[in-house]
Amino acid sequence: SIPPPPGPLTDDGLKLVNDPAHPFMAPGSNDIRGPCPGLNTLANHGYLPRSGVARPDQLVTAVMEGFNLGNNFAKFLVYQAHLIDGNPITNLISIGMKTPQTGPDPPAPAIVGGLSQHGTFEGDTSMTRVDAFFGNPAIFNETRFDEFSAFAMQFGVNGTYDINAAAELRHQRLEDSIQTNPELVFTSPRILSAFSEAVFPTVFFVDGTVNNGQLSLENARLFFQPNQFPNNFHRQPAPADFPTIEPLTQQIFNKHPFVPGVNNGTNNFIEMPNTPALSDFCGIYNDIVNRVLKIQYPNPTGPLLDALQTNLNFFFSAVESHNCPQAFPFGQ
Ligand code: HEM
Ligand code: MG
Repeated sequence: SIPPPPGPLTDDGLKLVNDPAHPFMAPGSNDIRGPCPGLNTLANHGYLPRSGVARPDQLVTAVMEGFNLGNNFAKFLVYQAHLIDGNPITNLISIGMKTPQTGPDPPAPAIVGGLSQHGTFEGDTSMTRVDAFFGNPAIFNETRFDEFSAFAMQFGVNGTYDINAAAELRHQRLEDSIQTNPELVFTSPRILSAFSEAVFPTVFFVDGTVNNGQLSLENARLFFQPNQFPNNFHRQPAPADFPTIEPLTQQIFNKHPFVPGVNNGTNNFIEMPNTPALSDFCGIYNDIVNRVLKIQYPNPTGPLLDALQTNLNFFFSAVESHNCPQAFPFGQ
């Protein structure tokens, strides 16, 4: 049977997380890393299996322990990812590319692609990765990071990546992809991850003893490139859950509002106002389970259906705080 997600941390305060029990070790040649600097860092410090293949409950524990993500936000990210990119039968997910290490796949059109799989969780307009149209969207890109740095220098307090830098960079990344990527997709659910991930570094990559929302470029590079905690790094002093993150995403959206859409050729952005907007959390939840998930699992049966239903319930437990009605893509 599938282990349930762990609940909130008991000891949920400030903590040195770059400690002797969790030394940095660069990944070995068989260790998998992917598009998420947060999870790559946790794997490089042993909060996750260093192989880069883990169970969803291990991921929930790791992001709570290592960064102090709130329990609901942790479950929301993890079970979304697991449903879309993981193996429901073996209960394993790769934090990077597809791998036989997640075991035998359920039947196509299921992909079990891992977090690097484009067009599932991974998507366009990332800050330090290129759009899949231009190359591997999972690996660090120096040109992108130079631009990240330039925006911190221009818009952030004391040349840090802060909420103002985040707002301007998020806007610019979308504009750039509109101009250059003929296959740009910027709709639910990518819009939500794009905005959350723009905010994350201002919260989780800043030392918890400082906690001023200002990420130095030196520390930014450590997290984004070698995927390493700075020396003496402390996690957030209290769990940072939806109530911490959502007002920040709202704040950066308000500086540069947009309508979701897709490019039909370069510089030809077709707005899709009938798809869920960034502010429509329940609409995005619904879109994930009733559209995105069903593309890969149109008609599951037997143990596969049971596993999907179990993970859907875990996923829903994270959105209950938003009072969304539960969606049942495969019936009740
Ligand atoms: C990006 C998954 C937790 C920080 C991503 C991406 C995925 C992902 C799939 C690629 C999206 C894209 O840019 O196209 C997850 C999952 C998590 C998780 C399943 C489970 C809890 C975290 C945590 C942090 C974090 C805890 C920070 C401490 C980031 C950042 C990016 C990102 C900053 C953007 C990278 C960029 O745009 O260059 N994550 N993530 N993530 N993640 Fe995570
Ligand atoms: Mg991406």
